[in-house]
Amino acid sequence: MTDLPGPSTPSDPRASVRPRVFVVGAGLMGSGIAAQCALSGYAVTLEDVNPSLVQRGVDRVQRAVDRASQRGGVTPEAAASAVQSIDTAIGLRRADTAQYVIEAAPENLELKRALFKELEAAASPAAMLATNTSSLPITSIASVLSDPTRLVGIHFFNPVLQMELVEVIPGHRTRPEIAEAAVTFARSLGKTVVHSLDSPGFVTTRAVGVLVNEAAWMLSEGVSSRDDIDTAYKLGFHHPMGPFELADLVGLDTLLAILDVLWDGFRDPKYRACPLLRRMVEAGKLGRKSGEGFYSYSSKASGGGAA
Ligand SMILES: NC(=O)c1ccc[n+]([C@@H]2O[C@H](COP(=O)([O-])OP(=O)(O)OC[C@H]3O[C@@H](n4cnc5c(N)ncnc54)[C@H](O)[C@@H]3O)[C@@H](O)[C@H]2O)c1
Repeated sequence: MTDLPGPSTPSDPRASVRPRVFVVGAGLMGSGIAAQCALSGYAVTLEDVNPSLVQRGVDRVQRAVDRASQRGGVTPEAAASAVQSIDTAIGLRRADTAQYVIEAAPENLELKRALFKELEAAASPAAMLATNTSSLPITSIASVLSDPTRLVGIHFFNPVLQMELVEVIPGHRTRPEIAEAAVTFARSLGKTVVHSLDSPGFVTTRAVGVLVNEAAWMLSEGVSSRDDIDTAYKLGFHHPMGPFELADLVGLDTLLAILDVLWDGFRDPKYRACPLLRRMVEAGKLGRKSGEGFYSYSSKASGGGAA
């Protein structure tokens, strides 16, 4: 499996035989992964369940590469060529031409299991199967496959083009060659790889869950204010964002789901979600995506409103 091919540049004479990445799910992460793979010289197929969702993904790819070009990270020609190189698909049938399959569908165990069962049948037996899950056990997703040794976790971060980190997570039955191929693949995209066991929340998701939860406990205990806690994390630890700003960006529902995964996985009270987080999710205060979380986004520019 270490013989999986690497990328080529658009001007590369091998360009007609570029290795192909099939990305399942053209949402926030799938479109970012597709953009990154295309800019790194891979041929890409971006797939979703209907034409309008695929088109929304392609539009996201366009915006992401335009921003990368404005930042000076890529030339306008490379950005244009990357978008042109992305092919689209509805359904998984066309996964058969890919050397790499990366699933970025919603964070739902049953959905991912069903997708991988279908992908195992559709994709070439030599292709690497990878999931971008941020918290679900790789071993559990792979358990429905006839060959669970070919599935690996490759966890990208949002926004994919700007975030340097990738976490590679072999499941309990992943073949070492597949894990190695995942590392080589992530490095070919210019990413820095960290390794994690298939432990609940891996490294990064466990870290972010605890970080935000502790801040929410401190706020609800009245230890300090929202703004002071955010300032403390930023100026005290050089974090680029405070925990409440981060929570609003990630989504409070996502963070609550992460804490529930950590609780289910460890049964350790340190992962008990702060009731404030649960109450805010029940009230629809999910963060930026709902217009209000710890901050109110209609008034964030003028200082934001307290949750
Ligand atoms: N959002 C983040 O910051 C982030 C970061 C790292 C990892 N992740 C993980 O990446 C995955 C995707 O997250 P996202 O934020 O991009 O979600 P999203 O909701 O933006 O995108 C998911 C996409 O999958 C599509 N989809 C749904 N069912 C499908 C199916 N059966 N086949 C193909 N496509 C299907 C949806 O239409 C949607 O376009 C999740 O597992 C999530 O945990 C998210």
